[in-house]
Amino acid sequence: MTALLEVSGLRVELGHGRGRTEVLHGVDLTVEPGQIVGLIGETGSGKTTLARAVLGLAPPNSGTVLIEEQNTTKLRGRALRAFRRSGAAQYVFQDPLRSLDPDRTVFDTLVEGLVVQGGRSRDELRDAADRVARLVSLPAELLSKHPGELSGGQRQRVAIGRAMAVEPKLLICDEPVSALDASTRITILELLLELRRERGLGVIMITHDLGSLAGVADRVTVLYRGNVVESGSTQEVLLAPQHPYTRLLVESVPSLFDDEPLDSNRRGELRDAVRALELDEPVASVAGTR
Ligand SMILES: Nc1ncnc2c1ncn2[C@@H]1O[C@H](COP(=O)(O)OP(=O)(O)OP(=O)(O)O)[C@@H](O)[C@H]1O
Ligand SMILES: [Mg+2]
Repeated sequence: MTALLEVSGLRVELGHGRGRTEVLHGVDLTVEPGQIVGLIGETGSGKTTLARAVLGLAPPNSGTVLIEEQNTTKLRGRALRAFRRSGAAQYVFQDPLRSLDPDRTVFDTLVEGLVVQGGRSRDELRDAADRVARLVSLPAELLSKHPGELSGGQRQRVAIGRAMAVEPKLLICDEPVSALDASTRITILELLLELRRERGLGVIMITHDLGSLAGVADRVTVLYRGNVVESGSTQEVLLAPQHPYTRLLVESVPSLFDDEPLDSNRRGELRDAVRALELDEPVASVAGTR
């Protein structure tokens, strides 16, 4: 199978003049189609920089980023703009309230990427917005609302819908659920599982929330000071962490699921899923959609 994303030996320097420093020191990361890869690591470890490099927003000093075998690090000028416009890789920002334009309706936000691509009539945009709203379970009556009139979960659906409208192959979600309460968090994680199942979408999920990660990720990559220190299946990394930093991360969560204010059914399901991890069953069954 051709990897959807293959990052090899990626080095990225940021800053100017004397302040210029290398932030990523030769990072490797692979995402297969339909795979959810968790990216974890302490603040400042380079997660967002890696995401930006994959999207063509932070030019690397060396290394390659292959998206479906196309080396996007070689793209410049018009070719780079065309790649970004194509929407093959989409980014869902950490804070939906700040990343959504407060003056834009949900409709205008959902079709943003399609308008940039151009060539669609108003009716086609209307159909596309309806399709995307259904895909991310946003009621049609919300299309005329502004972000300030939505709940946190609805805003996150809008942010994911905006990214999905251009039919990406790869979605990079930066802390997609950290600002949400426990039950909304689960519905958003379920949405990600559904999108990957229905669309074969590959997802990189950047998060500090190991509980959510255990629920949805197939693989986990651990970044520490700009280096990948551990990478493997979710069960390998979370149940038998090898690197001391990963051990610390995992051990600092007293029990991955006990302190969540989940309802008792969901808590039971999550516990069973953790046991299933130990029994070598599919990790993605946690949110109950597989
Ligand atoms: N524009 C920039 N110029 C110089 N250094 C930068 C720039 N942006 C980020 N950095 C530095 O690069 C390192 C990695 O930052 P990055 O934002 O990728 O971390 P992160 O893992 O996403 O952290 P967080 O979990 O806090 O979001 C940090 O040390 C940061 O200070
Ligand atoms: Mg970040």
